[in-house]
Amino acid sequence: MRVLGIETSCDDTGVAVYDSELGLLGHRLFSQSSLHAEYGGVVPELASRDHIRKVLPLMREVLATCAINPQEIHGIAYTAGPGLAGALLVGAVIGQSLAWAWQVPAIGIHHMEGHLLAPMLEPDPPAFPFLALLVSGGHTLIADIQAHGRYRVLGDSADDAVGEAFDKTAKLLGLGYPGGPAIARAAAHGAPGRFRFPRPMTDRPGLNFSFSGLKTAAVLAVREQALDSQVIADIALAFQDAAVDTLVIKCGRALAATGHRRLIVAGGVGANQLLRERLADLATSLRVQVYFPRPDFCTDNGAMIALAGYMRLAAGLCDGPDFSVHPRWSMDDLPPAV
Ligand code: KG4
Ligand code: ZN
Repeated sequence: MRVLGIETSCDDTGVAVYDSELGLLGHRLFSQSSLHAEYGGVVPELASRDHIRKVLPLMREVLATCAINPQEIHGIAYTAGPGLAGALLVGAVIGQSLAWAWQVPAIGIHHMEGHLLAPMLEPDPPAFPFLALLVSGGHTLIADIQAHGRYRVLGDSADDAVGEAFDKTAKLLGLGYPGGPAIARAAAHGAPGRFRFPRPMTDRPGLNFSFSGLKTAAVLAVREQALDSQVIADIALAFQDAAVDTLVIKCGRALAATGHRRLIVAGGVGANQLLRERLADLATSLRVQVYFPRPDFCTDNGAMIALAGYMRLAAGLCDGPDFSVHPRWSMDDLPPAV
């Protein structure tokens, strides 16, 4: 079975084709980050308009590079939520229209399920069950994954998602958008020990997160200093250290509490090199296996939606023409796929 995947939930237009026998055949991504950079964050209306311009040209490019024609596509998957309503509607309407024209089934995919399954695009994919750390611009989740579609959220963020905290702190430091990679680049020149920020909610039991206090600590540090490039690098380093440490501490606790032997890490912040190194060290010390998607598939992409779509369509699920999108959508509410 060959599935076309379309991702338009935020500021990246992603299109891919996944083949159940051959794996990923091709993918294309257009990042809108330069479009939104001058505003310091995503402008929803601009995002929707640009997705409309990009989805079909990207799809034509992907089909051409895989040398397949529309008759060789057996199903279509699009991101149905969570995300920006207008942006989601672009992918959903195009996906459903193509499905109608090509007479194939279509399915709306939960964006975080896409992220969660992204490590399965890599060689040596993880088997169920496993623990998942999902870290993006909108979510910070630790989830117990028993099987495809059987997810239990064990920890969530009470306020800002970790990626959002990276983005806001980068904006404060004048480092631009998206903030995660910008903070990581600045931190590479930082001096350790000059600032130390809190590891929020690690002093009490439980797996929930809160990142707004960490952002406030960065605000206070900025107010007390004359900002030059060295101070910016030092604050970036202290922020990245505290955010990564907090995630690693909670993952260690969740592995101990659940007894899982496999940990998967996904979502945009999963591209962070320091996080990948620290989690690899944690996994070695606990003798568990850790799985990461390649950095390009940590951030938003069409490949993860095509794979998630294949898995749900193969289980006999699909969404008819009375489809809807879900800007807010809890993973706990997803129908099981097995
Ligand atoms: O998964 P994603 O592409 O989009 C959402 O679903 O939100 O995640 C985007 C988030 C942004 O907050 C971005 O700053 C962060 O992931 N991010 C990073 C890195 N690359 C992207 N954060 C830390 N380090 C990175 N290298
Ligand atoms: Zn995402």
